[in-house]
Amino acid sequence: MRKKIIAGNWKMNMTPSEAVKLVETLKPLVNNPDVDVVFCVPAIDLIPVAEAAKGSNIQVGAENMYFEDKGAYTGEISPLMLTDAGIKYVVLGHSERREYFAETNETVNKKMLKAFEHGITPIMCCGESLQQREQGVTMDFIRQQVKVGFLGVTADQAKTAVIAYEPIWAIGTGKTATTEQAQEVCKDIRACIAEIYDAATAEAIRIQYGGSVNAETAPDLFAQPDIDGGLVGGASLKPDFGKIVNYK
Ligand code: 13P
Repeated sequence: MRKKIIAGNWKMNMTPSEAVKLVETLKPLVNNPDVDVVFCVPAIDLIPVAEAAKGSNIQVGAENMYFEDKGAYTGEISPLMLTDAGIKYVVLGHSERREYFAETNETVNKKMLKAFEHGITPIMCCGESLQQREQGVTMDFIRQQVKVGFLGVTADQAKTAVIAYEPIWAIGTGKTATTEQAQEVCKDIRACIAEIYDAATAEAIRIQYGGSVNAETAPDLFAQPDIDGGLVGGASLKPDFGKIVNYK
């Protein structure tokens, strides 16, 4: 049985002081021992959020990370900085980073390898555009993202990874994929992992759905056999996130 993992992706919202207040608000609402709860927050909020979350079930993740340990990479955050700050998760290859910050399958792969090297759990995002869905190439596109993203990752490492399936057309649009659409792709992603590795790895890896998840859509989505939780944007900034975490 895979444990559900429900993560908030705060994106570029919340100043450090707002972040601490939001943690205080959400802390009593997101208590659910059956779910891993992760708040993925902007780099400047990581330390105050980790501090504010102490003693709760909330784990903290970064929204991005560079693929070198240290050096002349102005503006980047290294895995060593994350581990030193007690950060256990990192979102990699979010579609917004691919679209606005030139992230590619290859850089995502380098970051995946680096995250595992430092014991940080990657939440690797994938997902098609509306045009790709309409052209019928959804799974070709996602398979490429997954196969390149996991190049050189061992089966034991892959078993601990999280993949977030986020159709780009469903992000921030209020247009959630139907439960059937989300389940179908998550199932195909699991089949792709089985092809790369084996059945045991496919059985262990956790696959989230993301894209306009809210308190109404969460219960149905998370009840699907191949959907192991969600990556939640807008609704993770509101008390509603407590309802999403306690979807049952
Ligand atoms: P929304 O939940 O705001 O659609 O964002 C989804 C997302 O991109 C999470 O990473």
